Formats: sequence, structure tokens, C-alpha cells
Amino acid sequence: MKALVITRFGGPEVLELQTKDDPSPGEGEVRIRVERAGLNFADLSARVGLYPDAPKPPMVVGYEVAGVVDAVGPKVTSVRPGDRVLGVPRFGGQADTLVLPEAQVAAIPPQMSFDDAAALPVNYLTAYHMLFHVHVLKPREKVLLHGAGGGVGIAVIQLCRLVEGVEIFGTASAAKHPLLRDLGVQHPIDYRTEDYAAVVRRLTHGRGVDLVLDPLGGGDWAKGYQLLAPAGQLIAYGWSNMVSGERRNLLRVGSQLLQVRPFTPLGLMDHNRTMSGVNMGHLWGETALLRGHLNRLLDLYAAGKIAPRVDKVFPLSQGADAYRYLQERRNVGKVLFDCTR
Ligand SMILES: NC(=O)c1ccc[n+]([C@@H]2O[C@H](COP(=O)([O-])OP(=O)(O)OC[C@H]3O[C@@H](n4cnc5c(N)ncnc54)[C@H](OP(=O)(O)O)[C@@H]3O)[C@@H](O)[C@H]2O)c1
Repeated sequence: MKALVITRFGGPEVLELQTKDDPSPGEGEVRIRVERAGLNFADLSARVGLYPDAPKPPMVVGYEVAGVVDAVGPKVTSVRPGDRVLGVPRFGGQADTLVLPEAQVAAIPPQMSFDDAAALPVNYLTAYHMLFHVHVLKPREKVLLHGAGGGVGIAVIQLCRLVEGVEIFGTASAAKHPLLRDLGVQHPIDYRTEDYAAVVRRLTHGRGVDLVLDPLGGGDWAKGYQLLAPAGQLIAYGWSNMVSGERRNLLRVGSQLLQVRPFTPLGLMDHNRTMSGVNMGHLWGETALLRGHLNRLLDLYAAGKIAPRVDKVFPLSQGADAYRYLQERRNVGKVLFDCTR
């Protein structure tokens, strides 16, 4: 088998396509020949050395795959060789072969491509969990969404459209704005040239928004908190501000930590605001919860209500190019690997 290995912390040059022995499925396990694997911002943070959950290098990352089952261990009942499936490993997905516990594998509907099946899990589970489990999105709510043109961002936009009259303020690089408008973002904001907080205040006549979805972290959490309307909620779900270049920058890390403001129960009560956090990686063991979300998402997909936007598919052998593409903020939607090449 072949796997894209992060050989040590550093820039894209630390990625290496390596050949290893094929793993065999044990009891309750399924082996998948992977067609497509997802690339997520967390993988980039892991490569730089800023993702504490990741294994130590040399490591293979990757949270989501789609492919064909080619072997199953004893006591596997839900899938068999030849089935098309998606899989959600905690790490190890960026490879052409993968063994997973049966509980982390699901059959994919006949009309679903491998591209869509690999693009759906992380982005849509995260978006769905935030909008409909941690928050309860209501008609005509106003939502501030950062990274609106990214993988999670586009999933959030599509899911917001399921609820009547939701108004989205989406920050993104300017080149992504026309597409974001087409997708239903009423107010794209170029955070590089405008102060997004000032824009949101102006457009909401000072009232603010009902929900802030913030994967930026540091000072942006404090800024987003100040933008909450009465009974508003901020969900912190990432810290991409930590990643400033191709390598870890300890000065940047220190300055990010200093920008975090403490939130007290008394303050939350007095302001009628809610602060929440989401880390899907730490929910990977909650199989019933995630299976419920996934089934709902597959139903929405079958009904044509959501559709992953796959921006670019890179051969696994060009792993460094894919990581660079994401880091240079060029993606609009999902970046995938073709693990057969
Ligand atoms: N907590 C969870 O369970 C969870 C799950 C999934 C993702 N996340 C988080 O959600 C965020 C989005 O993840 P994703 O996988 O969907 O990635 P993504 O949004 O597709 O990632 C790339 C985009 O992020 C924006 N960006 C913001 N800060 C950046 C930086 N420092 N370096 C490079 N790009 C930056 C850029 O777009 P613009 O310039 O257009 O803004 C870029 O195109 C990440 O922070 C990730 O860690 C969290």
C-alpha cells in the first residue's frame, strides 16, 4: 500500500509518499481500497506541529475516505467486499488502503460519487452539529461565518438555506465573493481590506448577529462575542490564526494565546450570551450521535438539498501541492486526494 507520510514537522516538503505492507482486517474490521481522501485544515496544522491531537511524526493524517471494501474480518455484518463505502478514521486516511472498525464505515448511496462521499463527512458533520445540535438555527436568524469559502464554510451555507430567511455574513478572500453570493451569502466581507466587525455592526444597525461561527480563534473570539445580539451564541471551533506560514511560528503562537479573553459565567448571564466549543475529533467515539447526523446528511444529499463543492482533486503522489493550495487560501470548497494515483 501507499501512504502520504508527514515525516517530521515542517513545510510541505516533509510530505513523502511511502510504500508499506498491506494491513489485514481483524475481528470487526473492514479493509477499504481508498479512491478519494479528504484534506482538512487540521491536517495542515498537524504538519506544521500545531495540532496537539495528532500522532507524532512520522504520521499519516486524514479523517475521511471513500472507496471499495476489499476484505472484512470476522463478525462484520453491515458491509462486504465490493461495497462502496465512506470511512471516518481518526487519522491515517491519506493512503490508498485503510483498515477501520466497522462502526466507522457506512455504505454510500448508489448515486453518490466517491468525490462527494469523501467530501461530505468532516465538513458537513461539523456544520450540521454546530447549526442543529449545539445551536438551534431558527428562521430569519443572522449568522456570522468565517472562512465562508472553505470546506466547512460552504457546508454551513448550504445547511443554513434549509431554514427560512437566515441571513449570512461571510468573511472570505475577495476572489471568492461572486461564488459566495451565488451560494446564498447575502453579505460577503473581505476581511483583508475591511474590519468585519464594523461591517456587521453597520449592516445590523448595531444589533449584531444571533450566531457567530468562529474557527479563527484568539482575538477574533473576543471580537465575535462583542457582535452577539441579545440571546446570541458564539461557537469556537478552530484556531486557524495560529497557522501563519508553512512552519510553526512560536511568536505567533504566544501572541495568539495572549489575545484570548476569559469569559465568566457572570458575564455570560449578564449579557444573555452563550459561548460554546466544538471539536468533532473529540466526538469520534460518540458513534450514535455521529451516525444520527450522518444519516440525516445522507438523506439531505439524496433529496438534492446539499451537495459538496469539490474544488480540486490532487493525486496522492502530489500531496505537497494539495497542502500548499489550501495554505495559500486558494480553495473554494473541498480539496481531495485521488488515492489511486
Ligand atoms: N472543531 C472542529 O471539529 C472542526 C472541524 C472541521 C474544521 N474545523 C476548523 O474549521 C476551519 C476551516 O476548516 P476547513 O478544513 O474547512 O478548511 P478551509 O476553510 O477549506 O481552509 C482553507 C481556508 O481557510 C481560510 N483561512 C483562514 N485562516 C487561514 C490561515 N491562517 N491559513 C490558511 N487559510 C486560512 C482561507 O480562506 P479565506 O482567505 O477565504 O478566508 C482558506 O482558503 C479550520 O480552522 C479548521 O481547523 C474545525
